[in-house]
Amino acid sequence: MATYSSSPFAGKTFGVTIDKLNKSFDGVPVLRDVSLEVRPGEIFVIMGPSGSGKSVLLKHVAGLELPTSGRVLIGDLDASDPQTRERVHLALVFQAGALFNSMTVYDNLALYPREHRLCNEAGIRERVLRTLQILSLEKAVDKFPGELSGGMKKRVAIARALVMEPELLLYDEPTSELDPVMSATITEIIATLREQTAVTTIVVSHDRDLALAIADRMAVIMDGRIRATGKPGEFKNPADPAIANFLNPTIDLKHPRFQQLENDHE
Ligand SMILES: Nc1ncnc2c1ncn2[C@@H]1O[C@H](COP(=O)(O)OP(=O)(O)O)[C@@H](O)[C@H]1O
Ligand SMILES: [Mg+2]
Repeated sequence: MATYSSSPFAGKTFGVTIDKLNKSFDGVPVLRDVSLEVRPGEIFVIMGPSGSGKSVLLKHVAGLELPTSGRVLIGDLDASDPQTRERVHLALVFQAGALFNSMTVYDNLALYPREHRLCNEAGIRERVLRTLQILSLEKAVDKFPGELSGGMKKRVAIARALVMEPELLLYDEPTSELDPVMSATITEIIATLREQTAVTTIVVSHDRDLALAIADRMAVIMDGRIRATGKPGEFKNPADPAIANFLNPTIDLKHPRFQQLENDHE
């Protein structure tokens, strides 16, 4: 992997404080009293089953959802304050990539630097090509997202975040829908980028291998509530049966749900 050369923002990053965050949609609670402290420069992984509130939580950090109560701070700035978005280079890598399908990979990456007039077109080109090189995507530069494999699309989505020279990097399910080899590659990329940039990185995922491999610290969220927080080692043999079953699910073919499936096929 090529190195991420120093940028005007290199070394600048932020901690994140989530303080008694509650979120309801139409009176239905989705986040319940969530409090977490993410330290500057660390990789913090939030794991939880599907529907547990991970994406909603990440959107609060990105300022895309407003708390029903409680707050999220980026450094000492309120994440829900629109001015914070101007002061913090924050990049969110969406689950589905959220690439513009009518634009080439090059234009997808150039979009943010152009809109924010970060540099002239030659500077943008240099920056886009350098970022593509970091992610081994040189050959994809003139392709459209529809022409790319799932793993390449994820890498383009990461590249597009990186081109913003983020001071806070958020990933939503970076390894979902990928085969194990590509999942491992993306996991390595996330760890390497943090190493090279020291950027605070928050990953939400249900990928246990990813969490145990790269988290400095992690939390498990269930039903909108933080169930446990700690170092990955502390999750190897969890005493809490709900966490144990989530992290190490056992498949019991005699379980009634499988009997039901068999009956459905008859
Ligand atoms: N904009 C919304 N309006 C209403 N309900 C929502 C909205 N966004 C998420 N939810 C609900 O919040 C819950 C948590 O969703 P989400 O954070 O996407 O879960 P996940 O952990 O799979 O990322 C789900 O029940 C989902 O249906
Ligand atoms: Mg989600």
